[in-house]
Amino acid sequence: MVNHFTWNPGRVIIFVYKEALTTPALAHRQAKTKAKGAITMAILVTGGAGYIGSHTCVELLEAGYDIILLDNFSNAKRSVPDHIRTLGGRDVEVCEADILDEEGLHSLFSRRSIDAVIHFAGLKAVGGCAQIPLNYYYNNVAGTISLCRVMATRGCKRMIFSSSATVYGDSNTVPFKEDYPTSATNPYAMCKLVIEHILRDIAAADSEWSVALLRYFNPIGAHPSGLIGEDPNGIPNNLAPYIAQVAAGKLPHLNVFGDDYATRDGTGIRDYLHVSDLANGHIRALVYSETNRGAQAINLGTGAGYSVLEVIRAFERACGKEIPYQVTGRRPGDIAECYADTEKAQTLLQWKARRGLDEMCADMWNFAAKQDQI
Ligand code: NAD
Ligand code: UFG
Repeated sequence: MVNHFTWNPGRVIIFVYKEALTTPALAHRQAKTKAKGAITMAILVTGGAGYIGSHTCVELLEAGYDIILLDNFSNAKRSVPDHIRTLGGRDVEVCEADILDEEGLHSLFSRRSIDAVIHFAGLKAVGGCAQIPLNYYYNNVAGTISLCRVMATRGCKRMIFSSSATVYGDSNTVPFKEDYPTSATNPYAMCKLVIEHILRDIAAADSEWSVALLRYFNPIGAHPSGLIGEDPNGIPNNLAPYIAQVAAGKLPHLNVFGDDYATRDGTGIRDYLHVSDLANGHIRALVYSETNRGAQAINLGTGAGYSVLEVIRAFERACGKEIPYQVTGRRPGDIAECYADTEKAQTLLQWKARRGLDEMCADMWNFAAKQDQI
């Protein structure tokens, strides 16, 4: 239901949806949240309709936060907010807007009191970003600057930013620690690095800022309901959604990018973590940012690595089918091994990933299998 409509002559139309959910189960959950004396902080979630953003919105609602979901829906389905409402059992305000539109952001901040921002919005396809670097720098870097300018003016100085393990580049040894040197091998990674630097500078210049630079490793999986998950447009670039499409019969086989790495079976090793665990890490970072100022880079990973072949086997167990694959050459820019040192996340955030690879694959398959019915 659209309750409110604003025409922003600058760039975008902002639709604000407000809808109260009233099923008995949801009412019960809301009452439970209230009974816990829950927090009533309002969190702006940019890119909230995307893969990680949507799971984080559900966790935020369950934890009792109010959320404003902002997305331009360039890489998300418009049905996602309704699924978030259903799963979170709470009301959600949705702003269809662009982070590049400062005027639109000002109008949102003048209308709503916002305590903190979780900033997911951005372009994320590593493959192809080298062909359109300006799009990446404009959307991701300029978009973040625009958001921060508005936040600073409006006195909202808490940000949780989606950074990436990609900032560790290709010359560090595993497990990656937050104080390792950083580098970038493509425009996507450079955007993350530049944004990290910008946010550190902002926090250094104004001691009221609290910034968490969350360096995600490889989020996979989906909400166990199968209502939200990763649903990329076109042919997936990443391993897990590609395997899911092979299992669903949409693609004939997986290409394994190299089996001649110095790893236990020759294929690349990554730190896969369940997207719901990752989402929960944002709640912990929010809590941390309530009482801590300055900028901190923090890894969010499990600390364990799995090879491509191990992921294939786990997915086969989850879906009960064989995943056909063929080994091809290495993908340019790939490294052999990437997994996190998790000590800092445990110490500062008291956060640790709980779910294992089998659960990630089972939830991913559950989501993939439901897609044609949703
Ligand atoms: P996603 O594409 O599913 O979500 C990003 C969302 O941002 C989309 O819904 C998109 O419509 C929106 N968006 C993009 N540009 C926007 C703009 N200018 N204004 C408003 N909305 C905009 O991606 P995701 O996998 O959920 O990733 C979220 C964040 O985490 C990204 O910043 C990404 O770089 C980062 N990250 C992702 C991974 C991963 O493996 N998925 C790993 C490391 C870091
Ligand atoms: N792989 C294949 N076949 C495929 C896709 C991937 O064999 O079709 C292999 C890759 O070579 C790699 C592993 O599977 O060894 C994982 O590859 P992904 O593309 O799924 O993930 P990456 O580790 O390359 O990159 C991801 C995100 C980045 C993020 C990074 C953080 O795409 O945005 O994790 O670690 F920065």
